[in-house]
Amino acid sequence: MTEELAIKTESLSKNYGQVTALDHLSLEVNKGEVLGYLGPNGAGKTTTIRLMLGLIKPTAGVAYIFGMDSQKAKVKAHKRLAYIPGESLFWPNLTGEETLHLLGKIHGKIDVKYQKELIARFKFDPKKKVRTYSKGNRQKINIIAAMQTRADLLIMDEPTTGLDPIMEQAFRECAMEAKANGQTIFLSSHILEEVESICDRVGILRDGKLVELGTLEQMRHLSALSVEATFAGRPPDVSALKGVSNVKITGHQLVCQVHGPIEPLFKVLVSNHPKTLLSREPSLEELFLSIYDKKEIQNNEA
Ligand SMILES: Nc1ncnc2c1ncn2[C@@H]1O[C@H](COP(=O)(O)OP(=O)(O)OP(=O)(O)O)[C@@H](O)[C@H]1O
Ligand SMILES: [Mg+2]
Repeated sequence: MTEELAIKTESLSKNYGQVTALDHLSLEVNKGEVLGYLGPNGAGKTTTIRLMLGLIKPTAGVAYIFGMDSQKAKVKAHKRLAYIPGESLFWPNLTGEETLHLLGKIHGKIDVKYQKELIARFKFDPKKKVRTYSKGNRQKINIIAAMQTRADLLIMDEPTTGLDPIMEQAFRECAMEAKANGQTIFLSSHILEEVESICDRVGILRDGKLVELGTLEQMRHLSALSVEATFAGRPPDVSALKGVSNVKITGHQLVCQVHGPIEPLFKVLVSNHPKTLLSREPSLEELFLSIYDKKEIQNNEA
């Protein structure tokens, strides 16, 4: 198995009794790439990450970390990666500082200078006992502990859970730094802005299946373009045109969506001399909602 890829999974699957948490996931993450991993609750994101980390055994398939089987070479693989869980069970009687030290020891080595920078950047008070930290402050320990290792691969499961917007911004800066530093990031997230700002590619999981994988630009084409036009008289009937859907006519205004080439629709609209004509790309939010929602996808494919 080549070391060229940071992560490679082959038909990785996990069943819990009747529940298929992950269904034949085959995915490749290049070195230095930032991959966003999205999906609704229960889609199988955490299951994927636990399998990649070798924390649970797959029902079928295999996950490789830098070419190493994550089950058979778990210890070696973990030397190359750091993991940010979305929640944590720490030792309640240690201070933040002691916890960071201990987690650093477990990994092997840390960048002490960078650790200090991270503590300052996250406005983290390392002297308190862990049991007294708020949820957001406990999450900062997870982030600092992972980032201070400068590991080649960072695997993150909703890393900004519990962080306020300013700390979320601090997290994004760290992630961008890691990217600039050549580190690979696998980021499971619910925060679309976070994904948009730092990810090179995005994978979308639904019911344990990878339903989309590509750059955000590529994904935008999956969703319809919204078009709005007003006319002096009654708007033309465009509902029979290919790719046009959700046509709504209210008085002089026409609103519709178009999937695929827009020229046929625009030709009809323009030949009817519109007074206003607006089209816009879907926002990331609309895009994901349409991909998450099965019905929309079936409509688009029809
Ligand atoms: N230990 C377990 N035992 C039984 N079922 C499980 C277990 N862990 C996960 N599942 C099931 O597997 C499916 C995927 O769960 P998973 O936690 O991977 O989803 P997720 O995408 O991380 O969701 P969330 O966004 O809520 O974190 C769900 O149906 C969940 O109930
Ligand atoms: Mg999860």
